[in-house]
Amino acid sequence: MKSTNDIKKFYPPKRNTGSVSSRVEAKIVPLRRDFAPDEARGKDTTTVRLRELYQDKFKKYGDDPKSLLWKRKGAAHQRFRQFWAEIDFNNKKVLDIGCGFGEFGIFLVKRYKNVNYTGIDIVPEFINVGKKKYPNLNLAVADYLTDKIKAKFDVVIASGVLNSNVSNNMKFREKAIAKMFSLTSDVLAFNMLGGHPQPKFTNDSNVWYADSLEILNYCLSLTRRVILRANYNPHDFTIFMYKVKKSV
Ligand SMILES: C[S@@+](CC[C@H](N)C(=O)[O-])C[C@H]1O[C@@H](n2cnc3c(N)ncnc32)[C@H](O)[C@@H]1O
Repeated sequence: MKSTNDIKKFYPPKRNTGSVSSRVEAKIVPLRRDFAPDEARGKDTTTVRLRELYQDKFKKYGDDPKSLLWKRKGAAHQRFRQFWAEIDFNNKKVLDIGCGFGEFGIFLVKRYKNVNYTGIDIVPEFINVGKKKYPNLNLAVADYLTDKIKAKFDVVIASGVLNSNVSNNMKFREKAIAKMFSLTSDVLAFNMLGGHPQPKFTNDSNVWYADSLEILNYCLSLTRRVILRANYNPHDFTIFMYKVKKSV
């Protein structure tokens, strides 16, 4: 696990990065806990297990969508397209939670002007590959659930981050969505496996298929400005949650 120094390394002081903003605006301060002590105590936390799952895949597949649990590259890209169908990323400060190798950041920088992008992931191997492939991207090892993220972002996105089969799936998703929504000043966009009615699946799977309407209802309890996009894949949906502005 990365120390504070490692995290600082991911936020280098000013440098010329072309169209990628180099300002250190995303102040992510890791708490004084680490993965290592949990593992040493044999404590089986959700994040530890998730990280190990992705690390096993990385050992097998390396720099490949399969390490991110995508069957093929197109699966990730189909989800990315939903984000930019709805959101104008020009001049936006963006947090990409669970960024994997940072591929979405590269799309943003190519397609939009003046994007201030930060990608975070719990898997150091993914971030290391991303930093080698895309040295101009601002990528860091961090856990959005437990690390202190002081900055607010215009746009927070999370693609594929809420697909895992964990011990209390609905509660886990509620906590995750609330946390993600607290990090944006305007819009949170995330996708998830599932649909309505809830697709059938086996319980021993690595993934869990949500009931999209149950998730939507929860989102509506946080803000009334919500979009559900469920027309691109029978087993995946995307939700956009906007902060309610006083004047609206
Ligand atoms: C299915 S992959 C998707 C990667 C990337 N967003 C994409 O679409 O190609 C999900 C990613 O979420 C990351 N992740 C899971 N839990 C996380 C957490 N608590 N904080 C940060 N990243 C997390 C995983 O390590 C993994 O890289």
